[in-house]
Amino acid sequence: MSFSKVLYSATQINDVVQELANQINMKYADVTFQNPLVLICILKGSFIFFSDITRKINIPQIHEFMTVSSYINDRSTGKINILADITIDIKGKDVLIIEDIFDTGVTLDCLLKELEKRNPKSLECCVLLSKPTMVKVPIKPAFVGIELNPPEFVIGYGLDYNQLFRNLPFIAVPTNETIKLFKRYT
Ligand code: IMP
Ligand code: MG
Repeated sequence: MSFSKVLYSATQINDVVQELANQINMKYADVTFQNPLVLICILKGSFIFFSDITRKINIPQIHEFMTVSSYINDRSTGKINILADITIDIKGKDVLIIEDIFDTGVTLDCLLKELEKRNPKSLECCVLLSKPTMVKVPIKPAFVGIELNPPEFVIGYGLDYNQLFRNLPFIAVPTNETIKLFKRYT
């Protein structure tokens, strides 16, 4: 078995995602088809969360994707690489970043700085998970699903350990054996 405990079941995650979508639907209720909300999926970790939450957000929206990497093994490297950028100009648009997890916050902080330069009308973040005791930056996502306390390293529902286990339909903690077995030395 690759995980030692299931922290959140598929049903629990679904409830959290619905609640986040309700908050987003309220906050962006005035958005129109003329100037739809730009939802940015941060790949790879957010792809499952993104596909679930977008189907619960019922306001005019367009979807963009950005590939960003920051982690090796279970540690943040402290800076991000933009491996693939969005394909539209976000000037004057309402933009909402959809991210899997807010850990040190370095990824979102760097991303916000980068996207802010492009002059969107508004720029906010929605994260499924947050590790509040790990945060190293002075920002807070507008929408937070679950606070992980203690801040365990988790896998499943899009979240990986060295690219593995994204397919688990629940959120779990990997066993020490799994951590050892799939470690990469870089
Ligand atoms: P941050 O820059 O430290 O906030 O890290 C954010 C990124 O690190 C996320 O987008 C995830 O890809 C990855 N990450 C952080 N914590 C975990 C975890 O517990 N499991 C899997 N990936 C994680
Ligand atoms: Mg990752």
